[in-house]
Amino acid sequence: MRKKIVAGNWKMNMNLQDGVALAKELNETLTTEKPNCGVIICTPFIHLATVAQFLNQDVIGLGAENCADKEKGAYTGEVSAEMVKSTGAQYVILGHSERRGYYGETPEILKEKVQLALKNDLKVIFCIGESLEEREADKQNEVVKAELEGSVFNLTAEEFKNIIIAYEPIWAIGTGKTATAEQAEEIHAFIRSVVADKYGAEVADDTTILYGGSCKASNAPELFAKPDIDGGLIGGASLKVADFKGIIDAF
Ligand code: G3P
Repeated sequence: MRKKIVAGNWKMNMNLQDGVALAKELNETLTTEKPNCGVIICTPFIHLATVAQFLNQDVIGLGAENCADKEKGAYTGEVSAEMVKSTGAQYVILGHSERRGYYGETPEILKEKVQLALKNDLKVIFCIGESLEEREADKQNEVVKAELEGSVFNLTAEEFKNIIIAYEPIWAIGTGKTATAEQAEEIHAFIRSVVADKYGAEVADDTTILYGGSCKASNAPELFAKPDIDGGLIGGASLKVADFKGIIDAF
């Protein structure tokens, strides 16, 4: 049975003090594991080691928002997958559209990042999703299929079990424009069928596919009720405990 997950992506928000305070408040609020929903927070690098010292990771998982595509060496400013793992984090978001768009992360670069993350025993939240132009041209299916083929379909079935897919229509990220539950379910079902074609029905059925893009407490119940939507990857609404908990309570 695949896991339901609500994961927060803090993006580039909060200094060390504010991020630690938010993590502490969440840790004090979510004190017992919700039976049918895993919770993860993915924070900027600066928060990881401090938050890992106190976070009850039996209840709230901890992840990074990126890692390098090189193992170690003269790459000023980069943070390797091994370094992320050494902080106590267990997850890493890779392939987010903001990194693809702003920082030129190609499928090849992301393939390297995914492999280094798995090599360092990190589970990967792998983001895919189309632009508004691609959606208006009805190309969303081919876009997400190509993103999977370009960076994660080189993995063995066993390796792929460490991948959580996050479908994030770029036109819905931070815009307040959410995909309708029907739109999201349609492409989630397509994504699952693509995984099934590659790895078989069992692996596809066990793959968690999250929705991301203006997911809020108000729209989460309808989204999460769909059979192929296994939770959400949450940006803005993960920055306040009440908002984030409101989404978690949708399960
Ligand atoms: O990674 C999740 C993020 O892209 C969604 O952002 O603010 O629309 O929930 P937001």
